[in-house]
Amino acid sequence: MDLSSLARPQALRGGSTGALGAHAARRRSVQLLRPRRPTFRCSVEAAKQQVQGTLAAEAEAARKECFGVFCTTYDLEADEKTKSWKKLVNVSVSGAAGMISNHLLFKLASGEVFGQDQPIALKLLGSERSLQALEGVAMELEDSLYPLLREVSIGIDPYVIFEDADWALLIGAKPRGPGVERAALLDINGQIFAEQGKALNAVASRNVKVIVVGNPCNTNALICLKNAPNLPAKNFHALTRLDENRAKCQLALKAGVFYDKISNMTIWGNHSTTQVPDFLNAKINGRPVKEVIKDTKWLEEDFTITVQKRGGVLIQKWGRSSAASTAVSIVDAMRSLVTPTPEGDWFSTGVYTTGNPYGIAEDIVFSMPCRSKGRW
Ligand code: LMR
Repeated sequence: MDLSSLARPQALRGGSTGALGAHAARRRSVQLLRPRRPTFRCSVEAAKQQVQGTLAAEAEAARKECFGVFCTTYDLEADEKTKSWKKLVNVSVSGAAGMISNHLLFKLASGEVFGQDQPIALKLLGSERSLQALEGVAMELEDSLYPLLREVSIGIDPYVIFEDADWALLIGAKPRGPGVERAALLDINGQIFAEQGKALNAVASRNVKVIVVGNPCNTNALICLKNAPNLPAKNFHALTRLDENRAKCQLALKAGVFYDKISNMTIWGNHSTTQVPDFLNAKINGRPVKEVIKDTKWLEEDFTITVQKRGGVLIQKWGRSSAASTAVSIVDAMRSLVTPTPEGDWFSTGVYTTGNPYGIAEDIVFSMPCRSKGRW
């Protein structure tokens, strides 16, 4: 399948690729958000004035993509408290009015991921349907008075919201219901990720790090990166950190230890029921799992199935998919990418396979053990 051909028709997209396309898209999105009343005049002079007025209004509207208190201008370098801070980091989040984001955004704004000297701009992508809810989210962010949160903008056009993104957290997608497998969402969600890949390709920072969360996240990550040929494929990740965390929790439970004693946990493959949580290479208190947990039947059968099906069981219980633990795992995944991995340990993330040492098929997105030197 040609993954780059998966896209909505031009008329439905935010705009075409390229800087001009992004510009046009920005204007269109502003119009979408702020419909203008038609006015009627009859002379050339009046028409000229109307065009000028329209341009001025658009420029004004474009400036107002920022939200509320976040439209205030400030100079970090002029302020004693903030002048040693790092340069602002732009984090774009899709599905920003959803449950996962509702946990995640506040963690990001608090400095949990990037530290207390890293100011942050949140660019929140919603849909026409969720725009009002998105304003509610932005209002709560305003009211939280986070010192590091310097800019918030909201919108429904990925070509606007992904502009200059240093990080793109792609959460927005149709979730599955009880009894549905994640792969069944591909038809509808694949379109979203093709469109967002194109938008990232056109307007994001050339070194943007992308974490795909919307299911089926491995395939969506592949679709996204195939639609973003000008961005490094190695910067695209499918979130399997949630599975890693779930696997660590199960091992801790069985071994009767706290979960910080579990290390070297690999999730191989997909964020799906075909994933393999690797108990053979994982460690408990620095020892191989099999030396600590002697119940081989539990390891080979129950453990694997429990991790594979944890998301589905949660949906049965909650009536909706996991949100808080997913947000936590996104934070964990981001932190693992930006901080040096402790000696001898690793973390799991779905990455683009090219020249991997494990003999895994090339040209797919597959979860495997990874290490970071702290710089991407
Ligand atoms: C999860 O694993 O909790 C999420 O992927 C949601 C789902 O569909 O299971």
